[in-house]
Amino acid sequence: MMVCEYRPGLEGIPAAQSDISSVDGLNGVLEYRGISIEKLAERSTFLETSYLLIWGVLPSAQELEKFEYEVRHHRRIKYRIRDMMKCFPESGHPMDALQASTAALGLFDSQRDLYNPKYVHRSVVQLLATIPTMVAAFQVMRKGNDPVEPRDDLDYSSNFLYMLTGSEPDSLVARIFDVCLILHAEHTMNASTFSARVTASTLTDPYAVVASAVGTLGGPLHGGANEEVVRMLEEIGSVDNVRPYVENLIARKAKIMGFGHRVYKVKDPRAKILQGLVEKLFSKFGQDKYYEIAQEMEMVVGEKLGHKGVYPNVDFYSGLVYRKLKIPTDLFTPIFAIARVAGWLAHWKEQLVENRIFRPTQIYQGLHKQDYITLGER
Ligand code: ACO
Repeated sequence: MMVCEYRPGLEGIPAAQSDISSVDGLNGVLEYRGISIEKLAERSTFLETSYLLIWGVLPSAQELEKFEYEVRHHRRIKYRIRDMMKCFPESGHPMDALQASTAALGLFDSQRDLYNPKYVHRSVVQLLATIPTMVAAFQVMRKGNDPVEPRDDLDYSSNFLYMLTGSEPDSLVARIFDVCLILHAEHTMNASTFSARVTASTLTDPYAVVASAVGTLGGPLHGGANEEVVRMLEEIGSVDNVRPYVENLIARKAKIMGFGHRVYKVKDPRAKILQGLVEKLFSKFGQDKYYEIAQEMEMVVGEKLGHKGVYPNVDFYSGLVYRKLKIPTDLFTPIFAIARVAGWLAHWKEQLVENRIFRPTQIYQGLHKQDYITLGER
């Protein structure tokens, strides 16, 4: 067997051959199926982008209309899922609620037929349609209210914001939210996607695949960073405090949330687009001191850590967008999950094409041939 060098975090080791997305970390380029993220953010919608990621091509007008129709009409969740979610502790993190309820969806689709295109289509529609409903339902129920029923006449993002707040969103807000979903939909072999592919490789169902990816996304080094960014900006409190705050973190060798990336050594292209969205929102709905703090922070961190390639990542500005939309901080990562479902499902589908179960190796560093010491002698 070939012996490879151990690389912590599997840095630089390909885990799959993929056609789904590509990143050029030195030039700050991200493409989905060869189309730049800038073009998609400007012209596409989240559902169209999901179709592109999952089926590999942009849909025709007819295909898109059918896909949107199907997703619209599968948004309602089963009353048993809703009742199960009602029993979740309201103090629990919404990512845990989402992981549990996504896994529970699989209980209602027991006819697993992974290589049947109809099954694949049905589960893709089911997951894309119901995950936003479950995120919104948990939010409303933890405040003691009944979930807001989805509205079939609203597009994907407007409907989610409607279910969250009970009122129809402003059209600019809905469009900006939809662009955020496009930007978060896919990003090559990140931790949660790797998790999804490992789970998929066992030939389990797509609900388990997405549930395992949700669990992985939740950590503060991955999707959870956007929540930490907003907490950090609030803690800093004023532009004057930025420099000492950053210097203190660097002196303690602590990671600054929303900065740095395994692949990007320049500013993440998604952070650039998100920054533009923050500015659009602020020019319509009023300025916010946290944007000034964020800009100062980008400058100071660039000055101190730019030589290591540490610049804002996708999580740095997304939190500011969601904060301005008055979305509770602990829903930022579930919203990331709503978007990333598209990428996870694309990888699930791709993994099944020439599947081989993931079974890496390890470098054993423990002991051998030890005696078993009986309990009384230990
Ligand atoms: N703050 C301070 N220093 C940093 C940061 C940061 N955020 N990110 C990287 N560095 C430094 C490291 O200390 C290291 O310095 P050294 O060479 O002197 O030891 C160097 O830059 C290289 O960084 P690594 O830690 O090797 O980068 P790695 O690829 O392992 O980690 C990660 C990437 C986890 C994203 C890291 O940058 C980080 O923890 N960032 C903060 C959390 C965050 O924002 N996560 C979201 C990422 S995007 C996403 O998942 C959606």
